[in-house]
Amino acid sequence: MKALVFHNPKKVSVDIVKDPEIEKDSDVIIKVTSTAICGSDLHIYNGFIPQVKPMVLGHEFMGVITEVGKDVKNFKKDDRVVVPFPIACGNCFFCNHNLTPHCENSNPNYGPEGGTLKQKGGALFGFTDLYGGYNGGQAEFARVPYADFTLRKIDHLKDEEVLFLTDIFPTGWSAIDWADLKGGETVVVFGCGPVGIMAQKAAWLKGAGRVIGVDFLDYRLEIARKSAKSETLNLSNTDVVLAIRDMTQGRGADVCVDAVGMEAKRSIWEKISNNLHMQAGTIEVIKLCASAVRRGGVISVVGVYGSPYSNFPFGQIFDKGVTIKTGQALVHHYIDELLELVKSKKVILDDIITHSLPLDNAAHAYEIFCDKKDNCLKVVLKP
Ligand SMILES: NC(=O)c1ccc[n+]([C@@H]2O[C@H](COP(=O)([O-])OP(=O)(O)OC[C@H]3O[C@@H](n4cnc5c(N)ncnc54)[C@H](O)[C@@H]3O)[C@@H](O)[C@H]2O)c1
Ligand SMILES: [Zn+2]
Ligand SMILES: [Zn+2]
Repeated sequence: MKALVFHNPKKVSVDIVKDPEIEKDSDVIIKVTSTAICGSDLHIYNGFIPQVKPMVLGHEFMGVITEVGKDVKNFKKDDRVVVPFPIACGNCFFCNHNLTPHCENSNPNYGPEGGTLKQKGGALFGFTDLYGGYNGGQAEFARVPYADFTLRKIDHLKDEEVLFLTDIFPTGWSAIDWADLKGGETVVVFGCGPVGIMAQKAAWLKGAGRVIGVDFLDYRLEIARKSAKSETLNLSNTDVVLAIRDMTQGRGADVCVDAVGMEAKRSIWEKISNNLHMQAGTIEVIKLCASAVRRGGVISVVGVYGSPYSNFPFGQIFDKGVTIKTGQALVHHYIDELLELVKSKKVILDDIITHSLPLDNAAHAYEIFCDKKDNCLKVVLKP
């Protein structure tokens, strides 16, 4: 089959690889009908999360079942399904506590320490050997383990309407759910990429009174205004922390979401300093959140971070009594509720798609998404 294979940083190509096969009785094979590229794929593409061997990338995908393992009871051949990005057994301590990205059984490199090269959380599709070494879904076919627990059936809805239930909408939703809104709050979302815009949509649905998106890129701020009906601030011409305080009687926002992560824009000096401190990227956005959030407020971090980080603003966070919540999205926990929101048209997810391309063009798609060329916000690939 054809698949997008990561070889080295900045070097991906569509290659012919071996078709996936049923390996365990709880697996299914699906023929992928739509798959997307995520900001998380860029951390591998840019070398921030290391991968040594070639690997098929992609953790946002859906399709039609072509083969079913002997133990699969809830699904049959030809069912149309979406696939949550964490690979989770459904039976362990963490799966039973709705914390499926921390599944104890899916990743051979799993461990309680966390954050080290040997001890990560549960496995993720197409997300390096550290996260289980499973091939991903930017391919014609994909193997899905623990199918009964993982998959969700889709009937009449179009692929584009539901594809983002695999990751970015549950991710934006997690960020807001963790902040436990009571109604009327001011929510600031740093980053108006696909994840940030989904967090902005989620903030309204959860009762925010004011939603403000922040980015450097005018074309992304414009999509945030149109698609998420947010107010926006551009970091390249505004002191956003002062602007946010001005908008909130001097106090700061009730909730700040970091939807950027370690690859935030930074100066050459910061890059040198990060390298000296052996940090993967920067915590610039966490620092912005710590300044922009009000005392007693919440910072939700869904942007991805890798290494330990020096100069973490812990004194400021302590003085302000801020709560921080973070982690991989709890996709399995939220997906059924979110599918209902899509079905009842309470939310539209596909209005952020700027490019729909054949899988054959995946290498070009990575380039334009990574470099923010051609006003690219979200690419859907068609195998
Ligand atoms: N926690 C999870 O489960 C989960 C799931 C999906 C994605 N993610 C992560 O979410 C993050 C965003 O993903 P995406 O697909 O939207 O990526 P993206 O790269 O398309 O978007 C990031 C945006 O942040 C902007 N940005 C850069 N520096 C900034 C700054 N200092 N302040 C404000 N904005 C800034 C960029 O211009 C860009 O528009 C990534 O780190 C990704 O890995 C996490
Ligand atoms: Zn993702
Ligand atoms: Zn589990």
